[in-house]
Amino acid sequence: MLEKLEQPAPDKIIQLMGMFKADARENKVDLGVGVYKNAEGHTPIMRAVKEAEQQLWHAETTKVYTGLAGDAGFHDVMIDLILGNSVTRDQVAAAATPGGTGAVRNALEMIKMASPDATVWISNPTWPNHPAIIKYVGLNMAEYRYIDLATRTVDFGGMMEDLSGAKPGDVVLLHGCCHNPTGANLSHAQWQEVADLLTAKGLIPFVDIAYQGFGDGLEADAFGVRHLAKTQPNLVIAASCSKNFGIYRERTGLLLAISQNAKQTGAVQANLAAINRLNYSFPPDHGARLVTMVLNDPALRADWEAELEEVRSGMLTLRQSLADALRKRTNSDRFDFLAEHRGMFSRLGATPEQVAEMRETHAIYMIGDSRMNIAGLNQATIPLLADAIVAVGV
Ligand code: LMR
Repeated sequence: MLEKLEQPAPDKIIQLMGMFKADARENKVDLGVGVYKNAEGHTPIMRAVKEAEQQLWHAETTKVYTGLAGDAGFHDVMIDLILGNSVTRDQVAAAATPGGTGAVRNALEMIKMASPDATVWISNPTWPNHPAIIKYVGLNMAEYRYIDLATRTVDFGGMMEDLSGAKPGDVVLLHGCCHNPTGANLSHAQWQEVADLLTAKGLIPFVDIAYQGFGDGLEADAFGVRHLAKTQPNLVIAASCSKNFGIYRERTGLLLAISQNAKQTGAVQANLAAINRLNYSFPPDHGARLVTMVLNDPALRADWEAELEEVRSGMLTLRQSLADALRKRTNSDRFDFLAEHRGMFSRLGATPEQVAEMRETHAIYMIGDSRMNIAGLNQATIPLLADAIVAVGV
């Protein structure tokens, strides 16, 4: 039986992680996987998370199972963080999942159960695991235009035109903030126009929000998802705590599904718990518990928000420094878009050959589509990257 299995197609992000690890050069620069790094290239445990972990070590007396959908306290704090007061609590079904990816996967399974003929519309480009999971779950898929390559801003006209071709009941996958891989985001007015289109065409929004707090701040980054929550009869949300709490390996995510009334919510809630049971039974709890403690304790929460803000503003400084360095070297504003983008990622616009040359000759690692993790830079490596960009002729 097992001899029938072939090598799966490699995930380009995971593949690059392996290549970087295997590179013995000391001066190598990792701009690949979306993990935050400080100026020393380290991914620290956030202060408030470490403190919560210490408190938990003393306070926790059992490791017995939580609920199938995870802990209700975790649901409540996360619903508050993501949705604010845009909906009432009895409209929201929630389930803890292993990371944001777990939430994406379970959301797509729920969509498949509820509406097997729906087409899921994804932005072109998007995070490569989106189409991979949609295909694996067996749903139809279509793409909408997203990026204007000339301006590196959202091709909003193209996006709206493509989504106008969707049929009622189709699902539109949107990035809540910090679009991965482009870094180009919808303005508030554009979110409103998207919501109007969804309403007019009877489309179902599915928001993947993996970087809340990394773009324009915790509240501003939630504008789009909250606007959809207020205006759409149904909304599916996959959220991750990996980045904004820095708890990547704890696999802490949340799937939310918003309905019109408490009766519907009850049925959806039971389905989310059932999907958890079928896939892995009880979801992981450690990271979720830390998040709950941090968000419920005013001092820990204030410290977490302050540290998150340092991370966010640090990335903005790196963006500006890189844009300045490239402006100087190229005597043009061609790369100014890097300072305008938000979140961890921007696509540089290099060809796959140029990306390979940067890796082979300059030991700078970025994804083949020239997506760079800005947080992988520091003030010492920015000139190296800028020189390499010019040297390979981007
Ligand atoms: C990324 O896009 O690099 C992150 O979301 C990490 C991942 O799992 O791909």
